Amino acid sequence: MGVEEEREVLDTLRSGWLTTGPKAKRFEREFAAYVGARNALAVAHCTGALHLALFALGIGPGDEVITTPFTFTATAEVLGYLGARPVFVDIEPATLNLDPAKVEQTLAGGRYRRVRALLPVHFAGHPCDMSALAAIARRHRLAIVEDAAHALGAACPVEGRGTVRVGTIGELSCFSFYATKNITCAEGGMVTTEDDALAARIAVASLHGMDRDAWKRYDAAGSWYYEIHDLGFKYNLSDVHAAIGLAQLKRADAFLARRQAIAEAYNAAFAAEPALKLPGAAPGVTHAWHLYVLRLELERLRVDRARFVDLLRERAVGVSVHCIPLHTMHYYQRRYGYRRGDFPAAEKVYQDCLSLPIYPAMSDDDVSYVADSVLSLVRENRR
Ligand SMILES: Cc1ncc(COP(=O)(O)O)c(C=O)c1O
Repeated sequence: MGVEEEREVLDTLRSGWLTTGPKAKRFEREFAAYVGARNALAVAHCTGALHLALFALGIGPGDEVITTPFTFTATAEVLGYLGARPVFVDIEPATLNLDPAKVEQTLAGGRYRRVRALLPVHFAGHPCDMSALAAIARRHRLAIVEDAAHALGAACPVEGRGTVRVGTIGELSCFSFYATKNITCAEGGMVTTEDDALAARIAVASLHGMDRDAWKRYDAAGSWYYEIHDLGFKYNLSDVHAAIGLAQLKRADAFLARRQAIAEAYNAAFAAEPALKLPGAAPGVTHAWHLYVLRLELERLRVDRARFVDLLRERAVGVSVHCIPLHTMHYYQRRYGYRRGDFPAAEKVYQDCLSLPIYPAMSDDDVSYVADSVLSLVRENRR
C-alpha cells in the first residue's frame, strides 16, 4: 500500500459516496483496458465473480462442469451453490494446470453426460493451455469460465490472435483482489467478458436482480424507482474497495515485473540443486507469478515436505502449501463421492510442493535469505 492508495481512499471517504458508484465504474473501465476486455464487472470477490459467471451461463441443478482438483475450494464450491457438480480432471505436473488430454478422455468416457462448461484455473499465474482447451470446448459445445484469481497480467498465445492477456479468451474470466493477490482491494473481484448479453446479466445479478444502474438511485439525477428483473445476489464492490484497486492497478505492471524478478532469482539460485524441481513457464507464456511453487525430490531427502516446511518456518521463512487437492477433503468426498487416489498427479504434487514467499515489497536481501535457507536445509537433509 502506498500514498496513492491512501489518497484514493481518502478522496472516496470525503466524497460522501461510499458504496458502488463512480470509483467502481472507473475501476471497471480501467481494468477492462488493462486486460484488453470489452466488458469488466467489479464485484465483491472472485468467489462471487465465479458464481455470477456460472449463473449467467445458466448452469443449474444437475449440470456438470469440468475443473481441477488442484485449486482453492472457491473454484468448485460455487458449483454447489447452483446445484451443479464439479467433475474433477487431473493436472499436468509441468504446469499444475488442468490437463487437456485428460479433459478429452473424461468427455469421451461417457460417464458425464451433462457437462456444460470448462472451469480451468491458471494455477499460480501460469496460463492453462487455452488453445487446447478452446478446441475441446468448440468440439463439445462447452462454455469456458476461467478462474484467473492468480493470473492478472498473465498472457499466452491464442490461435489467430497472437499473445493475449488472460481475461479475453474464454466466455468469462474471473479475477481476485484478495489481500494476497497480484493487486488487491482488500477484498474484491472482477468478471471480464466479450459478450455484452452476459455482461448485462451479471450487472443485474450482482445487485439483487435490480436494474443495471440501480446504484444510481441515490444520485441527484437518479430515480427512487427500481425494478427487480430476476433472482440476484449481493456481490457489488464498494467505492472504498474500488479506490484501493484503482491505485493498485496503476502499479500492476511494476508489481508483475518484481514478481518475475524474484522468481528468476529463485530459479537461478536453485538451478544446480537436483533435490529441487523448479517452476517454469511454457514457451511463449507470460507467468503472473502469484505463487512460486517449489517441489522437492523427496527420494533425495531424509525429510518429508511437512518437516521441510517446519524447518523453513523455524528460520522465519513464511512458507505455505498450495493446494490441498479438493477431492481429498471431507466435503467433496461426502457430497460428490470423490476418494483419495482419484487424481494421482494432483496428489503427487501435493506431497512434495511448497510455496516460497513472493511479493513485490520483498527486498533482494529477503530473496537471498530465503534461497540460502532452502539450499542449506537441502544440504543438511540430503539422503
Ligand atoms: C484459484 C482461486 N480461485 C478463487 C479464489 C477466491 O477468491 P476470493 O477470495 O477473491 O473470493 C481464490 C482465492 O484464494 C483462488 O486461489
